Amino acid sequence: MRRAMAVFVTRRIPAEGLRVLAEAGGCRVQQWDSEEPVPRPQLLAGVAGKQGLLCLLSDRIDREVLDAAGPSLKVISTMSVGFDHLALDEIKKRGIRVGYTPDVLTDATAELSVALLLATCRRLPEAIEQVKNGGWTTWKPLWMCGYGLSNSTVGIIGLGRIVPLTRLAEESDFVVVTCALTPDTQGMCNKDFFSRMKKTSVFINTSRGPVVNQEDLYDALVSGQIAAAGLDVTTPEPLPTDHPLLSLKNCVILPHVGSATYATRATMSVLAADNLLAGLRGERMPHELLL
Ligand code: DGY
Repeated sequence: MRRAMAVFVTRRIPAEGLRVLAEAGGCRVQQWDSEEPVPRPQLLAGVAGKQGLLCLLSDRIDREVLDAAGPSLKVISTMSVGFDHLALDEIKKRGIRVGYTPDVLTDATAELSVALLLATCRRLPEAIEQVKNGGWTTWKPLWMCGYGLSNSTVGIIGLGRIVPLTRLAEESDFVVVTCALTPDTQGMCNKDFFSRMKKTSVFINTSRGPVVNQEDLYDALVSGQIAAAGLDVTTPEPLPTDHPLLSLKNCVILPHVGSATYATRATMSVLAADNLLAGLRGERMPHELLL
């Protein structure tokens, strides 16, 4: 980097990623050094005049932020595989390059999807609660039974259009949603979709909350249209603690922890930093989102 580049980092991130930025000559880092999201006014002030922005999936990077940054902004690097929080049309118009972090979190997210699926179909949170609250009185043949994974059909939404969605809903014992949030997938899992699922089927979402119509999911769970749901993502995030879905025994909800292993988050932060630096240097990024 010939002249100093100023970058804004919107959160406390793993030290590994920050080190990459610190060790890059000529990179001046300003960071919102907190576990909590940067408040909007501080985000707008923080990006002003910067060349680079390293953000997270919880930061809405829209026209207002881009205007606040001004014409100096050359690169946005998001520490996420998802990019639905970025106003891509506006970003493209301004010739800003975008980096993201695909691949490195696939294993962690897949593991979490399986863990959530098993926790949901075998009713683990309910069972743990029974041990704590004295509900476990003896071994009972009909008590705490769920649905097993062996010999079942698992339908994964997000592997490409291999089968029509309706057929996937009708034939799967487990539906696992892993697709990106786009205008096409928004609200895709709705009343019609759930009505096609078997009453014994389990629905899992580890992609983005808005892919699901949550009111329709609630109705499907309450009416017994489907057996259970496990969600790692919701609308909004965090889900308010008095949300109706949280009152249901057949709904297991996690706080968007799909990629949350120490190693994965460290790798994501390094990749985000590498993307940012490569973009600022005008070089090829390890993972650029081509707009
Ligand atoms: C992402 O990177 O988009 C994931 O949702 C994080 O877990």
